[in-house]
Order: sequence, then C-alpha cells, then structure tokens
Amino acid sequence: MALILGIESSCDESAAAIVDTAAPDLALRIVAQHIASQDEAHRPYGGVVPEIAARAHVERLAPLIKATLADAGLTLADMDAVAATAGPGLIGGVMVGLVTAKALAMAGNKPLLAVNHLEGHALSPRLADPTLRFPYVLLLVSGGHCQLLEVRGVGDYRRLATTIDDALGEAFDKTAKLLGLGYPGGPAVERLAREGNPKTVALPRPLLGSNDPNFSFAGLKSAVARAVAAHPTPCPADIAASFQQAAIDCLTDRTARALDRLEGESSGIGALVVAGGVAANAAVRGALEALAAQHGLRFVAPPPALCTDNAAMIAWAGGEKLALGHRDALDISARPRWPLDPGAEPVRGAGAKA
Ligand code: KG4
Ligand code: ZN
Repeated sequence: MALILGIESSCDESAAAIVDTAAPDLALRIVAQHIASQDEAHRPYGGVVPEIAARAHVERLAPLIKATLADAGLTLADMDAVAATAGPGLIGGVMVGLVTAKALAMAGNKPLLAVNHLEGHALSPRLADPTLRFPYVLLLVSGGHCQLLEVRGVGDYRRLATTIDDALGEAFDKTAKLLGLGYPGGPAVERLAREGNPKTVALPRPLLGSNDPNFSFAGLKSAVARAVAAHPTPCPADIAASFQQAAIDCLTDRTARALDRLEGESSGIGALVVAGGVAANAAVRGALEALAAQHGLRFVAPPPALCTDNAAMIAWAGGEKLALGHRDALDISARPRWPLDPGAEPVRGAGAKA
C-alpha cells in the first residue's frame, strides 16, 4: 500500500481523499473521499465569489479530512504523504488547503506534495485507467482552462494549444446564466441540449479550420447572448443544443489539427485523453471518442465524477510525484497562476481560474 491523503480547495469544491497508489484499479485506488460542493453558497451570485469560497474551505476542510480518515478506518500516521493543490486557482482557497496540508505533514512527519491542480486533471486519466501510458494527448477542458497538451511524463508537458479568450466551461456557465438555468451551468446546459435541435440556431465556430492552433469561445458566447435577446427568442433547448454543438465542432476541429501535427512528428502518441469538468459532458466525450477512432488512437476519459474537481486526482498526482522521489519544502508558496508548460508563450486572456 502507498497511501496519499489529498486535499483540493482551488475553486468551489472542498474535497479530501485517500488514494492507494499501489492498488491495481480505480475501485481499489480510491480508499475514501468526501466532496463538499459550495453551489448553494454561490448560486445567488451566479458564479463563484472568491471570498465566500475561501471562508467555506476554512469551515469545511478539517471535518472533511476527519470524515475521510474515519471512513477508511485510518489515521494520519498510516499515510505515506500529504498532497494538496498549491495552484493555480482562487488564491484564498488554495492557501487554506495548502496550509492545512502543511500542518498535517508537519504534525505527522510526512512528506508534503504541493500539486499543480492542472497536473491533477492531467494525470487523473492514469488514476482511472492503469493501462494508460505516456505519451498521450490531453484535452483539458475546465472552468478556467481549455488546452491541448502533449503529456510526455509526470511534470513534462508541452502545450499544443490554449484558449485565446474564454475557457469552455466558462462559456457553458455563461450560456446557462443567459438561459436562466442557474449555477453551475455545464450539467444544466447538457440536460437541456438533449431536448433541442442543434441545427436551429446559427452560431459561429471561432477559429474553425484556422492555421492558428488555439481555441476561442468569446465570439460564441456573445452570439448566444444575441440569440437569447432576439425577437422572437428561439426555444431555449434549441439554443442550448446549438451552443453545445458549436462548442463540440470547435473542440474536435482543434484537436484534429493537433493530432495531425503530432502524427507528422512521429511522437509515439497512443491515446487521446480528455479531462477537466467539461469532460463530464457525454456529447463532448462521444465526439472525441469518434475522433480518436478516426486517428487510430485509444480514447480515455475518467468517469464524470473524476472529471470535475476532486481530491482523489490531487492525491494521485502527489503519489506519482512521490514515486519519482519528489517532495516539497514546508515553506512552499501557493501560486495563483502556474502553467503546466512554463516554456509556452503566454496568450492574451488565458483563464485565471483553474
Ligand atoms: O474542472 P472543474 O470542476 O473546475 C475547474 O477546475 O474549473 O470544471 C468546472 C467546469 C464548470 O464550468 C462547469 O460548468 C463545467 O466544468 N462542467 C460541464 C459539465 N459538468 C461540469 N460542462 C459541460 N457539461 C457538463 N456536464
Ligand atoms: Zn479543475
């Protein structure tokens, strides 16, 4: 057994998990976990309020960690390491989780792993599927990011594309808000889209077919706002379905471009992998699975509950780092911004959330 206690607090989920990195499959790897969503606290504001989020993490993390250890029938002394998200994300929340992990690591005399939240998402498919080997292509689609990465190993990422404006999760949340579906928006838009016709509302597909490898969703978001304001207003289900289809067309077009590039480089990629909150969307998964098949690649997507923010992915990423001999100093700082590929050119407007 190699037991890692993981803590996640970078946005609006407070979460704790114990992962056994030596276990053979997902069912045995997640020993125990608790996630406390803050949806109710943020709903009146239609989005995450950083100060409310940080306070909620302060109140919730300690009881969540206690409950997770109790469920597993374990104590801090049984852990091999303590891992926590150290960025990127809303800095108040990240600090709460990281300082909690530092205190536990110090009290229990355990190694501390300061995990990049994006690395948690990037490696989560390996937690879910023990047969997934490096290198793979990752589409990371969350509330704060939309990136294509070549994942060459733990800590070794090459960014192939990123959004030049909004993240896709943000566009889903905005669409939900415009349609009065409330917060969080992604799952609500997906549900409504099932009842609509994706061909009814003409929406743009920014950068489709472009030589620029990146993503852009701001124009799509504005077009949804115009459709909602139009007279007569199209049926909301048709707007949701048309938006989701436009987003999927952009995702598959940009991903296909990246795959073509890597095929040209003979990079040895064996799988197309999707992770992050938007990867919980069944239509998105279906379209990417078809694309992977066209390119002769395996398709790997973690179960939806592992796509949205959770602490098991943080514990797992911490375990992958620990296995390589990594550990962090107790004075390590939280980082509001922390790119996976530090060599990549910064892009205007790239997401600040994680
Ligand atoms: O990875 P995540 O939980 O948090 C971040 O690190 O950002 O992603 C949250 C994002 C939100 O924008 C949410 O609306 C979106 O993922 N999301 C979805 C679905 N479930 C969550 N978007 C589309 N369809 C879904 N089923
Ligand atoms: Zn996330």
